[in-house]
Amino acid sequence: MSYTVAQLLTQDISFQPIEIKGWVRTFRANRFIALNDGSTIYNIQCVVDFENTDDSVLKRITTGAAVHIKGELVESQGKGQKVEIQVTSIDILGDSDPEDYPIQPKKHTFEFLRENAHLRTRTNTFSAVMRLRSSLSFAIHKYFNEHGFYYMHTPIITGSDAEGAGEMFRVSALDAKNPPLTDDGEVNYKEDFFGKETNLTVSGQLEAETYAMSLGKVYTFGPTFRAENSNTSRHLAEFWMIEPEVAFMDLAGNMDLAEDFMKSVLGYVLEHNREDLEFLEKRLLDEEKTKPQAERSDMSLIEKIKFVVDNNFKRVSYTEAIDILKNSKPNKKKKFNYIIEEWGADLQSEHERFLVEKHFKCPVILFDYPANIKAFYMRLNEDGKTVRAMDILFPGIGEMVGGSQREERLDVLREKMKQLDIDEEELWWYLDLRKYGTAVHSGFGLGFERLVMFATGMSNIRDVIPYPRTPQNAEF
Ligand code: 4AD
Ligand code: MG
Repeated sequence: MSYTVAQLLTQDISFQPIEIKGWVRTFRANRFIALNDGSTIYNIQCVVDFENTDDSVLKRITTGAAVHIKGELVESQGKGQKVEIQVTSIDILGDSDPEDYPIQPKKHTFEFLRENAHLRTRTNTFSAVMRLRSSLSFAIHKYFNEHGFYYMHTPIITGSDAEGAGEMFRVSALDAKNPPLTDDGEVNYKEDFFGKETNLTVSGQLEAETYAMSLGKVYTFGPTFRAENSNTSRHLAEFWMIEPEVAFMDLAGNMDLAEDFMKSVLGYVLEHNREDLEFLEKRLLDEEKTKPQAERSDMSLIEKIKFVVDNNFKRVSYTEAIDILKNSKPNKKKKFNYIIEEWGADLQSEHERFLVEKHFKCPVILFDYPANIKAFYMRLNEDGKTVRAMDILFPGIGEMVGGSQREERLDVLREKMKQLDIDEEELWWYLDLRKYGTAVHSGFGLGFERLVMFATGMSNIRDVIPYPRTPQNAEF
């Protein structure tokens, strides 16, 4: 019978005949194959009877080769594993040239592995990261399913750019070299595929709101695109976002939901991805050893995740946060690049990280931001100057979640759109929600890759998505 490595490593030893297929990680002493098939971080040791195996076959057992092994599962003679396979026959399914196979059994830099992203999941680190990514996705769907949410697919091509969440990528079928022009010499998008200008979506929120106002509780989980030229370790041009949207829920309910949700999905991987987490925890420890003492974390990866799962997030208003920042050491000593002088300042990531990493030392939910630094759709507070916005900030990551209670009052929303010069005609359907059965509702967006970064301890967002899209880079 055919098994996976994960299955065999947890089998009772019964000397039964087994079959297995996988890739050779290492082959040493002409005898011991470390075999991996992606089912677990661990390899299974396969012991080749080299005296009865052709030299020509032995030569082809090289790192990276795909093999089909038949044998018996037996108690291991060696240290470090409970069981091993006594090979009775080995079939080389695909050779691998040992000279130029990029993934040699040694330490590679992440830069090198990014250039070989098609092969990097053959390393322990990237296979662990991608299994965790898969597991987190499942946990997210599971959470919403168990809490009465419907999964909604919002469009990827959008005709509205009113959200204002970021620069957009144009979608066009026009001939770029020779586009049709209007009388004023502008590109005539009326002749384009959709008869109007279209872009890749920056968020599914506005469409999700329409469904929340009929199905009650919905969420999206899909790709979103932003054409900002931000070449940082936390920005992608294509990333996945989870956006729940709930009718009759206010900002306090939104915070409760976000916190419960994040604790639940992180708790899921603590329970189900233990081996991968333990491996990544060791990797992170090794990486931290290379850093100066002051930059090292005093918690291990698993401790950090547990801490989030077991402790309440700190809820702090923007106004309180500004007071803390104004009186902080780095502000007074002018260590911040942007000095906080007065209420109304937009927070930069250096400020967010000060709050979570130095001041509160736990995830922080900042709420009630000044209206003029947030999006048009956020619910205006009674003070007339703040909106019911919330951002969730995480240690080591910064902003993980952005959300708000939505403005449900037609007149207030219209006024705001007028101020910001947002075309009512373009968002007629969004305004309709405020005309027909309007109600309090709220939601948020969680950047999936930032969650994966937190759960894996990886420090560059390019290393938690299979094929990262960043400025000047769309290989694979
Ligand atoms: O704060 P943002 O821009 O919020 C929205 O798009 C709202 N429409 C969400 C909502 O209320 N439904 O983005 C949400 C989250 C951020 O907090 C961040 O985690 C992530 O998306 N994010 C990015 N992740 C990777 N690369 C980028 N360029 C990102 N931009 C935002
Ligand atoms: Mg945001």
